[in-house]
Amino acid sequence: MASSSLSVVLLLLCLAAAASAQMSPTFYDASCPGALATIKSSVAAAVSSDPRMAASLLRLHFHDCFVQGCDASVLLAGNERNAFGNVGSLRGFDVIDKIKSNVEQACKRTVSCADILAVAARDSVVAVGGPSWTVSLGRRDSDTASETLANRDLPAPSLSVTDLITRFAAKGLNHTDMVALSGAHTIGQAQCKNFRTRLYSEENIDPALATSRKATCPQLTGSGDSNLAPLDDTTPDMFDNAYFVNLKLNKGLLHSDQVLYTLAGGATEDIIDGFASNQDAFNNAFAAAMVKMGNISPLIFPQGQVRRICSRAN
Ligand code: HEM
Ligand SMILES: *[C@@H]1O[C@H](CO)[C@@H](O)[C@H](O)[C@H]1NC(C)=O
Repeated sequence: MASSSLSVVLLLLCLAAAASAQMSPTFYDASCPGALATIKSSVAAAVSSDPRMAASLLRLHFHDCFVQGCDASVLLAGNERNAFGNVGSLRGFDVIDKIKSNVEQACKRTVSCADILAVAARDSVVAVGGPSWTVSLGRRDSDTASETLANRDLPAPSLSVTDLITRFAAKGLNHTDMVALSGAHTIGQAQCKNFRTRLYSEENIDPALATSRKATCPQLTGSGDSNLAPLDDTTPDMFDNAYFVNLKLNKGLLHSDQVLYTLAGGATEDIIDGFASNQDAFNNAFAAAMVKMGNISPLIFPQGQVRRICSRAN
């Protein structure tokens, strides 16, 4: 146990170092020594008053990193926030604003919004029982965001396995990373409009799950569109491997979840079997993939800026 978690930590440090030589886990140790503790306690408070917030903060970091890299572009008012997958769906902006203002009080214009997102995602996963990992720091914030790039790069729940693989490969993430990261759907919720088609026209869905979800997700487009259901029917607020066990039982909520098991043509089934039968295997792969995702095209000094307020450029 101790030696296997040590080797995971060492592996993650190596990956982080290789991905971006100028980032470091100790980046703020001298300039803002309280930063990480402030983020951690702010996340813990937000998650204890709203357990779903862990999921929402994790998703914010994912949607940030997939669009022009992890540069906090997702937080800028307008633009990306209006993209298909984001508008009326992303949440947690107020929590990030609060964390940022807490951090600013201690150290002015020092800690980037992009780093706050990366650390808050990690602390969120830990707060709901998931694995921890070392976050490399030193990302800087963009002064632009793009709705067009967000619509191009964020995966939609209607995608096929082939298209999902393509989207992740375009960001340097392999099959294992993609399946592990999809395991983020072990927490959080989705709106009826994002799984209606699956309930009413797909074969590879557990009949009892379909019946119970239909009760709050009527077939008629426009009725109950924003009604929520848990992505993981078994343990909706706990970060565990139940998502993968559910996929094997045809209990994935989104089309893009279930296709990873039943329509993948051999590409990802074995990975899911491995995660469904071994919680540690999932935890280790998730942590490794989060480090990779968090290192997608960061802006490194002298590029970018440290925003004063996360929702607008300086
Ligand atoms: C594989 C491609 C993916 C697709 C197609 C996808 C799609 C979606 C959709 C449609 C929702 C529900 C949004 C809503 O109804 O408002 C959702 C929620 C969520 N996604 Fe994904 N997602 C993917 C991968 C990921 C990844 C890689 C992560 C993080 C590492 C992630 C984290 C989450 C979380 C935590 C939620 C719940 C958010 C909340 O409750 O506020 N997803 N996703
Ligand atoms: C995918 O990347 C992970 C690291 O995130 C690595 O451990 C694994 O070997 C890679 N898998 C393949 C098939 O390249």
